[in-house]
Amino acid sequence: MADLASTLDELLDRSVALGYSRIGPAVRRRARGWPADPPPGALRDRHVVVTGASSGLGAAAARAVLDLGGHLHAVVRDVDKMAGVVAGWGLSPEEAERVTVWRCDLADLDSVNACASELFTALPALHGIIHNAGALPAQRQETAQGVELTMGLHVISPVVLTEALVPLLAPGSQVVFVTSGGMYAQALPVDDPDYEVGDYSGVIAYARSKRAQVELLPVLQRRWNAAAGVEVQAMHPGWARSPGLDTSLPWFARVMGPILRSPEDGADTAVWLVAQPGLGGGRLWHDRRPRRTHLASATVTSAPDLDRFWAWVCQQAGLGDR
Ligand SMILES: NC(=O)c1ccc[n+]([C@@H]2O[C@H](COP(=O)([O-])OP(=O)(O)OC[C@H]3O[C@@H](n4cnc5c(N)ncnc54)[C@H](OP(=O)(O)O)[C@@H]3O)[C@@H](O)[C@H]2O)c1
Repeated sequence: MADLASTLDELLDRSVALGYSRIGPAVRRRARGWPADPPPGALRDRHVVVTGASSGLGAAAARAVLDLGGHLHAVVRDVDKMAGVVAGWGLSPEEAERVTVWRCDLADLDSVNACASELFTALPALHGIIHNAGALPAQRQETAQGVELTMGLHVISPVVLTEALVPLLAPGSQVVFVTSGGMYAQALPVDDPDYEVGDYSGVIAYARSKRAQVELLPVLQRRWNAAAGVEVQAMHPGWARSPGLDTSLPWFARVMGPILRSPEDGADTAVWLVAQPGLGGGRLWHDRRPRRTHLASATVTSAPDLDRFWAWVCQQAGLGDR
């Protein structure tokens, strides 16, 4: 029966549309061998950062952290918007005490560094980071430091934030990158990480930056595991209803609307990972299972190219000691 469940899981994954839609988790949850939910209170006394907690999947992940008893550190660019999201949750006084909102514009490393140093001063320890904040811009934009926006938001800022918080992270803590299945279609843009060549496509830029999150997994796992025993993971949520999806891919959201996942199902694996120390890091996950990182040999990165790309990341992130 377990083999049947694995075959079904694999078929859903290969079909893409079925696995990524709400059918994926609906079928997988019912199949034998679905990994158990974290027990109630699994995150009690644990501090978890969720970036982009003011919308969509981030809000769902943030709420789930609270529901598991954790201390939520919502890292957002719009604190008033986050206050509205928290107000909508109708929290008990005990739950409300476990929420702290931190302002941070992840498109500006000055803001990221300021937020990191506030977190560093205020927190006794940290047990998880969910790098969820994301964007798919229609036009080419740059961060305050002049990096193409998606690469800055999805790669450089998470590296800078985590790097600053590593001394706070307890052994076994999970650092989770919320990537996208769209990355399967793109290779690492080693020669043009800033997307300066050719006509800009937000969809391609987004997918390249999400590819970068996945390709850097072994590098970041080695680095942060050696420093703090941290496990670095990436997960892709499938296709989930969110304000971001409605705005950036309206035609897709309209056509796929009836079969999109809920934000909660989209965020599920990120929260599940944070509550599961000891899984072994450096892997890509989807619906609570490790997944292959490539579907085509054309997207595989050679070791020298990965090294070159990492050197570029270090330069942008101000890591002199690579
Ligand atoms: N929905 C899907 O089907 C899907 C599929 C694959 C991957 N993903 C990934 O899932 C993550 C969440 O996406 P979503 O669909 O929930 O989108 P969303 O509703 O647009 O949420 C994105 C979040 O990122 C925040 N953000 C954007 N730019 C920021 C910045 N410069 N500084 C700080 N925060 C910033 C947004 O803040 P504001 O609230 O202030 O705008 C928002 O909270 C993203 O990484 C996305 O790539 C989603």
